[in-house]
Amino acid sequence: MSTNDPKRKTRVTCAPSLAPYLKKELEQLGFEALSMDKTGVETVASMEECMLLNLRLRTAFHVLQRFADINCRNAEELYSEAKRLPWDRVIDPSGFLSITSNVRNETITNSMFPNMRLKDAICDKLISVGGKRPDSGSSTDGMVVHMHWVDNKARIYLNMTGRKLSDRGYRKMPFMAPMRETIAAAVLMEMNYDGTKPLVVPMCGSGTIAIEAALIAKQRAPGLLRSNYACNHWLTSDKDAWSQQRASAKKLLAKNDPAPIVATDIEADAIEATKKNAVTAGVDHLIEFHVCDFAQTPMPETVGDVVLHGEYGMRLGEDEDLVSTYKRIGDFMKTDCAGWDGYVFTSGKPLIAAIRLKVAKRTPFINAEIDCRLLRYELYKGTKVAEAFRN
Ligand SMILES: C[S@@+](CC[C@H](N)C(=O)[O-])C[C@H]1O[C@@H](n2cnc3c(N)ncnc32)[C@H](O)[C@@H]1O
Repeated sequence: MSTNDPKRKTRVTCAPSLAPYLKKELEQLGFEALSMDKTGVETVASMEECMLLNLRLRTAFHVLQRFADINCRNAEELYSEAKRLPWDRVIDPSGFLSITSNVRNETITNSMFPNMRLKDAICDKLISVGGKRPDSGSSTDGMVVHMHWVDNKARIYLNMTGRKLSDRGYRKMPFMAPMRETIAAAVLMEMNYDGTKPLVVPMCGSGTIAIEAALIAKQRAPGLLRSNYACNHWLTSDKDAWSQQRASAKKLLAKNDPAPIVATDIEADAIEATKKNAVTAGVDHLIEFHVCDFAQTPMPETVGDVVLHGEYGMRLGEDEDLVSTYKRIGDFMKTDCAGWDGYVFTSGKPLIAAIRLKVAKRTPFINAEIDCRLLRYELYKGTKVAEAFRN
């Protein structure tokens, strides 16, 4: 690693409930997790390592390299302290700049105001140094400065990612209530999925779980699916380092194809969306698609994992029909999936109870701000209907 590319404290963010999976991914890539909280993990990384993280992490949102800590009691102090920082070393005045922030300061009532004052400080500094300033606005497709300001302390980061890493670029056709790509990846990590056993995804919707599974099984770096990252817009960006990181990410691709991945849904439009998204992701040849009721899903001969993400909760309405669907899910797993590891991703006690099978493990997830569970069932031949249910 070049000495011009020093390692800096770096915060990698994620959706609530995914931090343990992100920590595991970072450690597997050789990064030390200095600390972990609800929405992120702290590590140290150079600019080139941030590129690697953008390309390879499956459960992260953003890679944020720490730029400065400032003390400020109000927006005017933010402006004057931020204007002292060496922005001319990192900001390309002919580029595009956007500011994002989380702010908890009693003097701030308009959440856009601190962003505007920070942008003013940066642009005024650049004009005073070189007479030129970048265009600015809300698009996160260029340079993004992120501020985390609590009480009198503001931490300023250079966002190395831009748009969230969950926006992989393959989901051109969403179907109803899709699962976020990063959550699907974490669910598959929780299932220890590695592509060596068949995976069946009835109720696949727009195909996120099946597509993420194919990417994991092929060891395909998810970040290769899109080309625009904020790390390539900073003045300090290194095009050669980026090309090298992309080239080494491409080399990770597994030669062998995974065990069968089967994706089914009762709606033809859902399977249409899944196919199109899988084509965009370059994994359509690894997935078998069927339009059918979940109970008619053709199961491969060799046992593996079956995972259902059915409808639930406020967004889709929890009613009698849903309860009877979950009862049928329990029957399907009991009769058609004997010997398989069964998983249901859902929310709500009545739906979980309706499955009527003994839960081997329940893992909490938050999906679209709803408390969910990934329920694991060991589907031995002759699995008993559970007598007692816990949530
Ligand atoms: C919550 S969505 C799944 C979202 C999916 N994980 C994704 O990321 O797009 C539930 C899906 O179950 C499907 N579905 C509902 N009832 C079904 C049934 N009886 N058989 C098969 N699929 C069904 C719906 O068409 C919908 O696509």
